[in-house]
This record gives sequence, structure tokens and C-alpha cells, in this order.
Amino acid sequence: MRQELVIGQGENPAIIQMDKLNRHGLIAGATGTGKTVTLKVIAEQLSKAGIPVFLADVKGDLASIAEPGEWNEKIRERVTRLQPADFELRGYPVELLDIFGSSGVPVRTTISDMGPLLLSRLLGLNETQEGIMNIAFKVADEKQLLLIDIKDLRAILNFVGDNAAELRREYGNVSKQSIGAILRGLLVIEEQGGNLFFGEPMFDIQDLLKADADGRGYVNILMANRLFMSPKLYSTFLLWFLSELYEQLPEVGDLEKPKIVFFFDEAHVLFQDIPDILEEKIELIVRLIRSKGVGVYFVTQNPTDLPNAILSQLGNKIQHALRAFTLKEQKTVKAVADTFRQREGEELAKKVTELKVGEALVSFLDPEGTPGYVQQVMIYPPESKMGILDPLVKTEKINRSLLFYKYSEAIDRESSYEQLQRLAEIKAIELEENEELAAREKEKAEQLKKLENERQREQSRQKRAGSSRDSTMDRFTKNLMSQIGREVGRVISRGILGILKK
Ligand SMILES: Nc1ncnc2c1ncn2[C@@H]1O[C@H](COP(=O)(O)OP(=O)(O)O)[C@@H](O)[C@H]1O
Ligand SMILES: [Mg+2]
Repeated sequence: MRQELVIGQGENPAIIQMDKLNRHGLIAGATGTGKTVTLKVIAEQLSKAGIPVFLADVKGDLASIAEPGEWNEKIRERVTRLQPADFELRGYPVELLDIFGSSGVPVRTTISDMGPLLLSRLLGLNETQEGIMNIAFKVADEKQLLLIDIKDLRAILNFVGDNAAELRREYGNVSKQSIGAILRGLLVIEEQGGNLFFGEPMFDIQDLLKADADGRGYVNILMANRLFMSPKLYSTFLLWFLSELYEQLPEVGDLEKPKIVFFFDEAHVLFQDIPDILEEKIELIVRLIRSKGVGVYFVTQNPTDLPNAILSQLGNKIQHALRAFTLKEQKTVKAVADTFRQREGEELAKKVTELKVGEALVSFLDPEGTPGYVQQVMIYPPESKMGILDPLVKTEKINRSLLFYKYSEAIDRESSYEQLQRLAEIKAIELEENEELAAREKEKAEQLKKLENERQREQSRQKRAGSSRDSTMDRFTKNLMSQIGREVGRVISRGILGILKK
């Protein structure tokens, strides 16, 4: 099998080593200079190599990778000039994902899973408010309570507020105002669709690691048009995806090819008004996820939008044209030019402003892992369609997705239990007309009851097992259980970005 991706041609071919894909990368350039097309060309080649891809489609021009492109003058010219190997107009296997569930497979997570750090970021909490969020999670985690949806989080926040006096001893101050502020923040999230993306069944990140029958890696596309309207929601969800991959994939060191490549489009929003602590943790995840076989590629207009600690980790760089009209822009261009390994006398700053659409300065890690000399190249044309995905094709892709059926129905564990009970009641009336059925139902009901008794016994057993805390906390727990009442039944531990460890 080929050990490299070729994405364009200059004096030499532009080659990305497959075993260096996990050394991360950057695609940068002003609007309209070719970033999206370059991303597509890379995603196509990854798919061909059997490597699944995750990307977010913010502008609606990436999902069309599912459809074959069309011949036109420009494409023909590029193909003739660059002679890409094995070029054929074709579409690629896609899985469309949507946290709102309308344009793809519904992606849900639970409040518990997202954790206090990302939630605080999502809600834009200040330090005091974040402290209270942490208390709420500590109480829930210690008591092994699962917070599934927004109503659970609201319940526990109210609980913490109502019991502030007693909780103070153990956890510190809790002010009603701060709780009020968080609850108001939750309302906003609800308006943004929070009831759709916080719930169950939760999306299993392993579902991203698939290939089709021909061995082509799936291109998993988060349909992010609406999502991006709230940049905080967008960046929080991308971070959640990234931490899920990090927490769930095993340590594998350097592989011949990565398990998945993750593209972070509009990456600048990630680091906008972000607390230092979160920035540090993102840097840490990006550094460590390498050895889990994940490559992370940041796509942004201006590389200087990314923190240096991130930039310095990016081994494979593609720089499209930048403008240099203002003094500030000139400075940026100069700074960007300086990040490349270059031969003496190379006027990179000038070159980067003169690049044409679909041209780029590139530097990739060589087989030894050394950054290659920067080279000006013309990027291959995409094999798939440029522009918007045909709405009919979109519907077809969704309808044919097995994942869609796996996740389409939202479930509510608690209410499903209640429904069962109600169902049993209705049945009971019907049963009077049918003795045999009645007997069976009775048996069922008894079994249900037995199960419930067992559950309760198990619950109290666990409570006893964990009853080293004082009796005040036990009373709290009892109270809490009745308000939220969903146990994990095991010790909860959290990962780097505070998400739940499985
Ligand atoms: N490698 C390429 N091959 C063919 N056309 C390209 C290529 N790169 C860019 N283009 C043309 O330039 C347009 C803008 O590119 P795009 O990738 O959308 O820019 P950006 O994402 O940087 O705003 C595309 O619609 C396409 O017509
Ligand atoms: Mg673009």
C-alpha cells in the first residue's frame, strides 16, 4: 500500500507521509484562496488510504465530497498540468452528523459526559459561577449520579442552591445569584437546541472509525451551518469530540497510518476569549492525542490566531495566500514566513502574498520526521464536487445511514420506566377480558417489581458501601436520588478536559 499522500505539485510533488499524519498540521490562508478545496483533496486521499476523517462543515461546501465533481475548464487544466495519479471524478463515503438531528445522524451527549469545564465554557461562566458548576458536578460524581439532560442539571443546581448552608462546610460558598446566573445561561442553551443534543442515546465515538466495503475510510461530516451561528456551541462540541477520541482510544504510539484525522475548521473561534486553563488543556490534548493515532489539522484564515504552543506542534503546514495591505497584515505575513524551514534568500513573505488561488507554500515532515524545506506548489483539483451538496443526495445519504437508525430515537430512561408502568395499567384493563393474557401480564409485572426491588436493594447496598461520609451527606443523597435518580453505579472519573471516562 502507498505510504504517502500526494496533494499537489511544485518543483517536486507535495508529499505528506502517512506515518507523520499524527504530527498534526495547519491549513491557512485568506478567504477564497483554496483552504476548503485543499481540505477536500486531503480528505479524499485519506479516505482512499482507508483512513476515516472527521470534519465540520461550517459553510455547507464540504459535504459535497459525497458527490462526484464535474469536468470544467479549470479542473481539466489542472489535471493536465499536474497529472495527479489515479484521478477520477467520484464521490466519497460520508456519514452526515448533526447535533440538532435535522441534517444528519443526531449526535447527543449527556451533561455528565460533557463535564463541568466544557459546560462552563459553553455557558460563558465567570470564575465564581464555574466554581458552583464544579460543586454541582462534585456532588453528583461523588454520589455516582448521572446527569443526562438539562433538566437534571437544573435539578442538581437547584438542589445545591437549596442546601447551600449545609454544603458550605464541605464545598465552600454557594451564592443564590450565581446559581441564578447559571440557570439563566441554561435557558439560552435550551433555546439554542440544548434539549436536542443533551440526552440519550449518546453518540459513540467508535462509530466514526469506519471504512466502506471497498476499504475507503468514511468522511464523517458534522453539519455545522446552524451550529456555527453560536461559535461557543461549535467549539465546545468540537472539543468534546476531540476529548472523546482522546479518552476512548488506546495508547498506540506511532502507527503506519493514523486511525482518524480530525479537521478543525474555523479554528480561531476555539481560542477566542478562552480561559488560560482551558487553553493549556487543549494544548495538552493535542500533544498527547498523537500517540492515540489521531492527527489534528487546524484550518484557519490566519495562523497567528492560534496559540504558539499549538502552532509549534503542527508538523505539516499548508499556507495559502495572505493579504498584506495594512501594517498589521504585513507583520503577520512576516511572522508566518518565519515559521517555515527555508533556504537563504527565499523571499517567503513576498511569495505568500503573491500565491494564486489553489496554490500554497507547503512544508511537510519527511520520513525522518524533519520539517521539509518550504516549497511552492499547485494543489491538485478535487475529485468530488465543489459547492453545495445536492439536497436530494443529502436526504438519501441520511435515509441510508445505519447510524441514523441507531440514534434517531431519543430515549429518556426515567420516563420510559413510567411509560412501562402506564402501559401495564392500560393492559390490566384489557386483561379482564382475557384470563390467559392477564396471568402472563401479572407475571411480567411481578418480574418488573422484582427487578425494581433488586435495583433498590443494590442501590442501598451501594449507598452503604459508600457511606463513609457523614449522615448529612447521606440525607442529601437520598434527597438527590429522588430528584434526579439515575445512578451510574460505579466510581466516576474524568479526563483532561473534564469529560467522563468510560
Ligand atoms: N485545488 C484547487 N483546484 C481547483 N480549484 C480550486 C482549488 N483551490 C481553490 N479552487 C477554486 O477557488 C475557489 C475558492 O476556494 P475555497 O477552497 O473555497 O477557498 P477558502 O476555503 O480558502 O475560502 C473554489 O471554489 C475553486 O473554484
Ligand atoms: Mg472555505
